Amino acid sequence: MVNLGLPASIPNRKLQFHDNIDFAAQPSFNNFTPLKSSSLKKIIGMEIMKERFKVKGEALATEIKELLKEHGNKKIGEVHLSQIYQGMRGITGLVAETSLLDAQEGIRFRGYSIPELQQKLPKAEGGNEPLPEGLFYLMLVGELPTDEQAQHVTSVWQRRSHVPNYVFDTIEALPVNAHPMTQFVVAVMALQTQSQFAKRYAAGMSKKDYWDAVFDDSMDLIARLPRVAAYIYRRKYKNGEHIQPNGLLDWAGNFAHMMGYEDESFKELMRLYMTIHADHEGGNVSAHATHLVGSALSDPYLSFAAGMNGLAGPLHGLANQEVIKWIFELREELETELPTKDQISEYVKKTLSQGKVVPGYGHAVLRKTDPRFTAQMEFGKKHMPDDPLVQTVWNIYETVPPILQSLGKIKNPWPNVDAHSGALLVHYGMVEYEFYTVLFGVSRALGVLAGLCWDRILGLPLERPKSVSTRLVKKWLNGEDEIWGD
Ligand SMILES: CC(C)(COP(=O)(O)OP(=O)(O)OC[C@H]1O[C@@H](n2cnc3c(N)ncnc32)[C@H](O)[C@@H]1OP(=O)(O)O)[C@@H](O)C(=O)NCCC(=O)NCCS
Repeated sequence: MVNLGLPASIPNRKLQFHDNIDFAAQPSFNNFTPLKSSSLKKIIGMEIMKERFKVKGEALATEIKELLKEHGNKKIGEVHLSQIYQGMRGITGLVAETSLLDAQEGIRFRGYSIPELQQKLPKAEGGNEPLPEGLFYLMLVGELPTDEQAQHVTSVWQRRSHVPNYVFDTIEALPVNAHPMTQFVVAVMALQTQSQFAKRYAAGMSKKDYWDAVFDDSMDLIARLPRVAAYIYRRKYKNGEHIQPNGLLDWAGNFAHMMGYEDESFKELMRLYMTIHADHEGGNVSAHATHLVGSALSDPYLSFAAGMNGLAGPLHGLANQEVIKWIFELREELETELPTKDQISEYVKKTLSQGKVVPGYGHAVLRKTDPRFTAQMEFGKKHMPDDPLVQTVWNIYETVPPILQSLGKIKNPWPNVDAHSGALLVHYGMVEYEFYTVLFGVSRALGVLAGLCWDRILGLPLERPKSVSTRLVKKWLNGEDEIWGD
């Protein structure tokens, strides 16, 4: 059902606007004003985005078919025994169209580096940071959007942002001390009842329409996540005093507003944060888990929840909370707000001697300072150069790499994205570090769900790599069995 109306105001959570709601059954429907023709144009514009994605996707699917017909047997690498025991590092086994990671340069989204995105993507009025809406368009369509196209995404996400009450009730059923990521994943699972893909699949949808239903679910889910995440934040840390959405704001700006942060530069931080955390090619745990579960034709809600369970791990997304926790403990132990580099150095050595990792440092693929770290450092220099916590992050940056390097076993001693984000958030008063991974998760939805749309339009099959037992490996090595591929 398509409703051509936008909310004049949203007095409570029951009164939000959504394509899938039967408004006739909603007493609050009278509060909606008819769409102005400019808003109508935006919605039509959005249909054009879907259409553009369809054209691009179908063209690439045809191209890939041809490419495989001609080159399908071409060898692109070999696999060493050690790699199958070591997290499949360096084995190319996945396709992800949205972004590509270079070990030296860092991430590029559709060929654009983070500094290029900061320059070229549309901005909010009066802002300098890229709008995540623009990045989503870029990942999906493969072209930089115009300001108007990014605004289309904003308006459609506003229109689809309704979260049914039972989702909030489901969150409320959890103890308030449940980790915010647990509450987040439970809320996503509660939202799954809204899946268009699941409904259409049960009704016998044709294969050629899978992408269409995945697209719609992805748009709905992305639109709803800030509301859900902000609800969890206010429930857990602000006595359940919730803040209604502001329909005039962009996706990230509105997210900041619903969490209770009105500072314009915090909204800018959210735009930057949501952009740089969105995607990191296909093999990281959250992207890979989403893709893997999606390959079973589990709908986008189920697939995204799987990705988020992976993001909640301390070696992946939870590292951002670990970093700030580690710095707080360091400051507490040394009883200083601004530890010296010598003090930091001693503390790092102590952490290592306890058999722990230095959080925020190292990466499975990157071999240089993460450009996402650098982008946040630039933001810090611009907005809060004198903040002692931010300065501590910079002092750690000068201290840790040589120490890690001296151990001789760490492939990348440089900081990753998580080494910086927490200090910026604390500057604005967001000290509740257990929540940081939820911010990461809201952003990561953009990349993994754009990726899922691509998976389905390309018709990628069920993922099912081969595994072996050590018993078989020993037989191989003893010549008692043949190694596959030999
Ligand atoms: C990200 C990470 C999981 C990558 O792991 P990886 O690909 O196995 O990294 P490496 O190949 O360089 O690891 C080699 C060794 O160095 C260790 N190592 C890597 N990063 C380390 C760090 N920051 N502090 C201490 N030791 C580290 C590994 O634990 C491993 O030790 P082991 O051989 O005794 O098991 C790892 O660097 C890490 O744990 N970092 C800290 C957590 C973090 O910041 N995660 C966020 C990632 S975006």
